Amino acid sequence: MSRTTLSGVERTDLLRAIAERHAVRRYTDTPVPAAVRAALGQTIEAANAASGLRIQAVYDEPSAFGGRRSTYGQFRGVANYLSFVGPSQPGLPELAGYWGELVVLHAQLLGLNTCWVILTYDRAKSAATVELGEEEVLVATLGYGETPGKPHKAKPVERLGQVTGGGPWPDWFRSGVEAVALAPSAMNQQKYTFTLTGDTVRAKPGFGMHVKIDMGIAKRHFEIGAGDGPWHWAE
Ligand SMILES: Cc1cc2nc3c(=O)[nH]c(=O)nc-3n(C[C@H](O)[C@H](O)[C@H](O)COP(=O)(O)O)c2cc1C
Repeated sequence: MSRTTLSGVERTDLLRAIAERHAVRRYTDTPVPAAVRAALGQTIEAANAASGLRIQAVYDEPSAFGGRRSTYGQFRGVANYLSFVGPSQPGLPELAGYWGELVVLHAQLLGLNTCWVILTYDRAKSAATVELGEEEVLVATLGYGETPGKPHKAKPVERLGQVTGGGPWPDWFRSGVEAVALAPSAMNQQKYTFTLTGDTVRAKPGFGMHVKIDMGIAKRHFEIGAGDGPWHWAE
């Protein structure tokens, strides 16, 4: 996988978004203003052009979360969401995680709260368009949270990263793995490892539910954390 971000946003801003983003499941009634929708729309368009996905933002459509005043799972007041749609193919889940997380981090910078959701929404009532040969992998809620959420319990960096031969961790590798520790994952499982050998980083998913999506999200975090260090992905 090549290392790609979208132009116009500084790495320091994305690092801030990584630190400030937490899963938010309860939302206020405040609608998302037109200017914010337009800005997020540009990010989505660029992400779709780069990835071949058809990510869509859905606004003022609460039925996939049981209606504006109802609770659905732990969710309440969800009226907006991002839908991650793309062509059915084995690489789709990882691609959805990788590009989706970039859109999620942009949403955070626009002042929106989010939560990735694969199980606890009514998929049949999603308002996104899914064409023949495509699927909706999952969604992420969007809106103004009742609270900004709180940090998840993260695995220690020593369990997420390792250097072959046990040598010291270069600074860029450490900051990449620290960003991975802040990555959201299904049921907060964080089942992956990042191994540095020479200047090659290999990201390896473990076993569990939705690990491919989690892997894409974590790779995005690693890239932002590691920045332009002297490294490349294994492949
Ligand atoms: C692929 C994926 C699927 C998820 N599905 C759900 C879900 O169905 N319901 C839910 O309440 N949270 C869901 N989450 C949110 C995770 O529980 C949450 O991201 C994780 O506990 C880490 O917390 P954080 O996002 O605050 O860092 C999902 C997250 C990911 C990455």
